[in-house]
Amino acid sequence: MAIKPEGIYVDVTFGGGGHSAEIAVKLTTGHLYGFDQDTDAEQESEKISSSAFTFVKANFRYLKKYLRLYGVKQVDGILADLGVSSHQFDTSERGFSTRFDGPLDMRMDKEAGKTARDILNTYAEEDLHKLFGIYGEVKNAKTLARTIVLKRATQELETIGQFKQAIASCLPKGKENKYLAQVFQALRLEVNDEMKALEEMLLQTAEVLKPGGRLVVISYHSLEDRMVKNFIQKGKFFGEVEKDFFGNEIKPFTPVPPKLVTPSDRELQENNRSRSAKLRIAEKL
Ligand SMILES: C[S@@+](CC[C@H](N)C(=O)[O-])C[C@H]1O[C@@H](n2cnc3c(N)ncnc32)[C@H](O)[C@@H]1O
Repeated sequence: MAIKPEGIYVDVTFGGGGHSAEIAVKLTTGHLYGFDQDTDAEQESEKISSSAFTFVKANFRYLKKYLRLYGVKQVDGILADLGVSSHQFDTSERGFSTRFDGPLDMRMDKEAGKTARDILNTYAEEDLHKLFGIYGEVKNAKTLARTIVLKRATQELETIGQFKQAIASCLPKGKENKYLAQVFQALRLEVNDEMKALEEMLLQTAEVLKPGGRLVVISYHSLEDRMVKNFIQKGKFFGEVEKDFFGNEIKPFTPVPPKLVTPSDRELQENNRSRSAKLRIAEKL
């Protein structure tokens, strides 16, 4: 992030505050704003006592609005470490993990929106089919959707255990865990409207960062990484980069080498959850 002690920074995914704590100690007259939509993250944020730090309990899709509220127009760096935190994943009541028999919840913001239970029990069959196909890249998404609709007709799906039992016939032999991870990812992305929130946040980073400011994004699955990569390279999510009358490219960012950072063997040994992480760095033009 090339942190300057007097710079203004935003960690849009505070989580357990690991990254924020590292940034905050580097600041003197600078300031760090840490966003998270989860009240558990808000509680964690109390551990950072530095006066150079402010926690913002908000969805990062409202990045610009909240920065304006704090009187901040432009910043020197933005960090996004996407997805679910270890705390969320390891807490059974949050319903994110296939390992526990918790409620079908999966909301990052416990006070808002629909739960995985709402989706599984109310979405039309074709919407479930689309959801598992697009967000989960599940091969038998049509059969899965049909199975869910048939099972919920006799009994509402309420817990992870019930759901896993209901779809047991759809799981490919020997690849059960991978399949369940894909199904759970699809539900989580829908519950939290994650792809749309990411798109909205990325577009705002181009307005909020100073020229020379840095955007650093860590993503954990191909849908996210494709979106981040396209945005950094082309300034848009689909299609080719725009050009002006003279053929010059019109885009807000340039990638900072190395284009892609992945975990080292040592990191993988110390932190197995980093295995799918892809980090990209961009500089605002
Ligand atoms: C992978 S964790 C971040 C971990 C963090 N870097 C740390 O050092 O502990 C992602 C966090 O981002 C939050 N989050 C994900 N999407 C969000 C969004 N759209 N708005 C606000 N917070 C979000 C989640 O609630 C979660 O706490």
